[in-house]
Amino acid sequence: MKVLGIETSCDDTAAAVVGAEGVLSDLVHGQLVHNAYGGVVPELAGRAHAEKVVVTVRAALEGAGIERPDAVAATAGPGLMGAVLVGLCHGKALAAAWDVPFIGVNHLEGHLLSPLLDAPAGAVVWPFLCLVVSGGHTSLYLATGLGEYEVLAQTIDDAAGEACDKVARMLGLGYPGGPAVDRRAAFGDPTAVALPRPRVKALGELKRRGQISTRRPLDMSFSGLKTAVRQHLLGPDPASVDDVCASFQEALVDVLVDRVTKAARKTGVTTVAIGGGVAANSRLRARLSALEPELRVFLPPKNRCTDNAAMIAHVGRLRLLAGQRDPLSISARAGWAPGAP
Ligand code: KG4
Ligand code: ZN
Repeated sequence: MKVLGIETSCDDTAAAVVGAEGVLSDLVHGQLVHNAYGGVVPELAGRAHAEKVVVTVRAALEGAGIERPDAVAATAGPGLMGAVLVGLCHGKALAAAWDVPFIGVNHLEGHLLSPLLDAPAGAVVWPFLCLVVSGGHTSLYLATGLGEYEVLAQTIDDAAGEACDKVARMLGLGYPGGPAVDRRAAFGDPTAVALPRPRVKALGELKRRGQISTRRPLDMSFSGLKTAVRQHLLGPDPASVDDVCASFQEALVDVLVDRVTKAARKTGVTTVAIGGGVAANSRLRARLSALEPELRVFLPPKNRCTDNAAMIAHVGRLRLLAGQRDPLSISARAGWAPGAP
């Protein structure tokens, strides 16, 4: 079964075809229109998707050597609603015209299951832990089966990618900031600037004092880290851009790796995967790889970490093979947890 996937939840117009053989085509059209604004402008994102979605889908079908797929899957949320609706409605219209099944895919479920897409068959087995770290979300899930995901930890404020983007903006590194921080950090000293690592204990103490509301013992917080970087930059003797990037990145990665190891210990689950844009970060990938052989770590290729439609087609295909399909009346959903009905 060959499934066409469409992804338009943020600032990438993406289309892909996935079949039993794997990924047959995978196209991502990034939007440069946001660069001048230092962040994604939702209205402009929706318009740019409307311009590019038809040509991107056509190219994905051509790349896969097919005229029509056996089914269509499109991101139905969460994301920027005006952006999501463009791909969702285009996908539904194609499914209706071709008279093939349609699946509305949860974008986070796409990231969560993307490690299954490129790993050798049977290499990633349920249950596994998956750290989804993107521009809008930072969650650690326990995945026990298709559609069965328990949140073990979540950020209580900024997402990891959002923190990267904000720090990059403070340093004048442009948008998106994560790749720039990653590049500059390679030349810096991670011990140059002393930055906080909000620990489980510290968060527990703040919760007891009623200063924060966190629901899970392994929850994370990145807002204080970002503020500490700002205070350092406003101080009398700021470190070089490379050193600030390396120190910030090390603190961020320390917290993420700490939660992964604690969750593995707590659950006894030893297979770990990651997804989302920040999963492309070289330091995070190196630190997680170093957890082997105690843990089995699966890192999707970098192009499969950032937003793409192959992960959407993949989830659509798995759900179709499990006998599911969605009605064409399905609409976009903003606060949609992966696995929720
Ligand atoms: O998953 P994604 O492509 O889109 C969302 O669903 O949000 O993630 C985008 C985020 C941005 O915040 C971007 O700065 C960050 O991922 N990012 C990175 C890297 N590449 C992308 N952060 C750190 N290091 C990277 N190499
Ligand atoms: Zn994403």
